[in-house]
Amino acid sequence: MNKKWWHDKAAYQIYPKSFLDTNGDGIGDLKGIISKLDYLKDLGIDIIWLSPIYQSPFVDQGYDISDYYKIDEKFGTMDDFDTLLDEAKKRDMHIVMDLVINHCSDKHEWFQKALQDPEGEYGDYFYFRKGKNGNPPSNYRAYFGGSAWEKVEGTDYYYLHMFAKQQPDLNWNNPKVLKELYTMINWWLNKGVSGFRIDAIINIKKDPEFKSFEPDGPDGLTSVCRMVDSVDGVGELLEDLKKNTFEKYDAFTVAEVFNMKKDELIEFVGENGHFSTMFDFSTHQLSFGEHGWYDSKPIQFEDFRRVIFHSQTECLDIGFLANIIENHDEPRGVNRYLPKHARNEAGFKMLGTVSVLLRGLPFLYQGQEIGMQNCRMNSIDEYDDINTKGEYKMALEAGLSDREALEACYENSRDNARTPMQWDDSANAGFSSGTPWLKVNPNYKDINVKEQSGRPDSVLNYYKKLLALRKNDSYREVLTYGACIPMYLDEDNIFAYAREKDNHKVIVLANFSDKPRVLNGDFANRPILLNNMENITLSPSSVTLMPCQAVVFGEI
Ligand code: GLC
Repeated sequence: MNKKWWHDKAAYQIYPKSFLDTNGDGIGDLKGIISKLDYLKDLGIDIIWLSPIYQSPFVDQGYDISDYYKIDEKFGTMDDFDTLLDEAKKRDMHIVMDLVINHCSDKHEWFQKALQDPEGEYGDYFYFRKGKNGNPPSNYRAYFGGSAWEKVEGTDYYYLHMFAKQQPDLNWNNPKVLKELYTMINWWLNKGVSGFRIDAIINIKKDPEFKSFEPDGPDGLTSVCRMVDSVDGVGELLEDLKKNTFEKYDAFTVAEVFNMKKDELIEFVGENGHFSTMFDFSTHQLSFGEHGWYDSKPIQFEDFRRVIFHSQTECLDIGFLANIIENHDEPRGVNRYLPKHARNEAGFKMLGTVSVLLRGLPFLYQGQEIGMQNCRMNSIDEYDDINTKGEYKMALEAGLSDREALEACYENSRDNARTPMQWDDSANAGFSSGTPWLKVNPNYKDINVKEQSGRPDSVLNYYKKLLALRKNDSYREVLTYGACIPMYLDEDNIFAYAREKDNHKVIVLANFSDKPRVLNGDFANRPILLNNMENITLSPSSVTLMPCQAVVFGEI
């Protein structure tokens, strides 16, 4: 495998709206991010992914872009952004932007012009189709619920939106659209961004006939991803995109890809793949309900372990995955993946250990490093997220009570990860001197950066050690390139693996059960590189792990 500049890096996702507000408007900003670069450097971060900061009406929190060349004034100015690039560079850090190009905002100039004349030049930037017998062109359900077609008042036309109706899909069959997008991407790369996190990209290939499918729900609709599954050829679009943009700059790209077709991994993230890497969503997908959040299932440890090892093995000779426990679209990992008895600091460190030391790029999400948790909202009005409101509605329509529907939101809502970053125990967790745009998790007095910075055994200080271990001169090579070999698969509730390369070996052991567990093996002579507890019980032929204990052993 040819080495690439990003292989041994650690990344961190910032959700700018909730990171740090310096002007008291209740919304995080670029100046806030700049002021925390040293914090991130000290944590061990090299690459920062910013969720969208472009001009946007914020119907879907910036994933609806109305001008790709402007910074939204909520976040600051282009000068602030340039300062961020400079300051990051000084610290040898990389800024990665979010690239949302499956769709734009309905307020984008292209769409405004298209609405005036769906049959004209800009109409062809989107998908306008005539309705059938007074109905939409097909029976697709948008990802956020409801029909994926919206009628254009006063015409026979509907336009396609796979997400919210304010997010019209761009027509990737139109060379003019591609030219506009490539020019824009290269403009940002010329400015000095190191790459992109690429949003919802699998959706760009459509079947222009937009055939209906068998309904899959009581609403008579079928998920729009049925259409995505039914078409081939996304690879050609992705290759063209790469060749005209990223490749020319040796840029880093990490793709958000669901529903990739079988056997396409090599084309996506192989040596000459469309992207540098893509997120491993296999654990996230375990919780998908058949119809929505209201019938999603709690994740079982056995499944959690199985799917991670499957991804690790599948990718081994192909490329790198990006490993996460949470992001801005998911509930907090500690609530989702840890059994109840493990929802404490030892458990948070244990989950961090097994995730960060996997083969692939570790991506931390803001607040993960201090063990931020899901936030209970008292009513649906306390939620902001468009997807949460859609799922809540579907839950009520399926017959759940308000309390039950809120519980489904508590377990699954994207707002769980979007509550403001908890910096200290002052008002609003030190996030803002104004009124935060979204509720602050009331647990901020106990869980915050300030308290954890000053305490050697905190989750934060443990994450620093984890990331430092990946960069330690003696272990960098094996922890970057070494295979991930599952161990103790017969032991339930034990997450264990070795990272191996040539004659080098690091062993990671974690006990997810609520009982002490004895694992046979010769550990006594190995150096202990990390231990999330003070002690460890070793004998010449075994190790005993306490509940929630995670230990990393080095070379003999
Ligand atoms: C991606 C983003 C998500 C957004 C959606 C539509 O899944 O991560 O936040 O709502 O795309 O852009």
